[in-house]
Amino acid sequence: MSEAAARAQLVELGRSLFDRGYSVGTAGNISVRLADGYLMTPTNSCLGRLDAARISRLGPDWAHQSGDKPSKEVFLHRAVLQARPEAGAVVHLHSTHATAIACLAPEGGDAEIPPLTPYFVMRIGRRLPCVPYYRPGDAAMEPAVHAAALAAKALLLANHGPVVSGATLADAVHAAEELEEAARLALLLRGVPGLRALNAAQVDDLLRQFG
Ligand code: 13P
Repeated sequence: MSEAAARAQLVELGRSLFDRGYSVGTAGNISVRLADGYLMTPTNSCLGRLDAARISRLGPDWAHQSGDKPSKEVFLHRAVLQARPEAGAVVHLHSTHATAIACLAPEGGDAEIPPLTPYFVMRIGRRLPCVPYYRPGDAAMEPAVHAAALAAKALLLANHGPVVSGATLADAVHAAEELEEAARLALLLRGVPGLRALNAAQVDDLLRQFG
């Protein structure tokens, strides 16, 4: 995909996430890997109103090259994209239900979202690590995020929100949406008698087919 097409898709998918309430205000940020650098949403920008020409462009060394000042979460995106060379994009949101799970999950452990539906398993996988709390934009989070991203394609930032990678921007957005819906179901069904999750054999089968 050309850089111009990647910029246009970032604007389109950012607006789509915002319009459907996955992001509010200026919450969230998105990065896309290019052949010779990265695109990153500018700091304090609204995902619903990105301007393709003003999206931040960073070089292969992550230095700011052009466009508006990049998100303060550059370290977060760098940690994930360096840990996962197959990932083409990273989406960070403050979507309500995934963030609620990020307030419940043990810091440094795995969030307990049960495998209730196939698409959660297919898009997110078996593990959802929760990185301990860091102030937004704190570069000190990078090693912990890197370690979590080596283990899983999505992670939670404690008391902050989800971070999801994907082979393409569309994949990362779809997985972030799936994570939010899985988190919503997990909270809706918490403690409900008779709740049935997929069993280990069903999860293995999904990961063999689609993982
Ligand atoms: P930026 O506006 O710097 O991207 O930060 C928003 C955010 O979501 C912080 O986590």
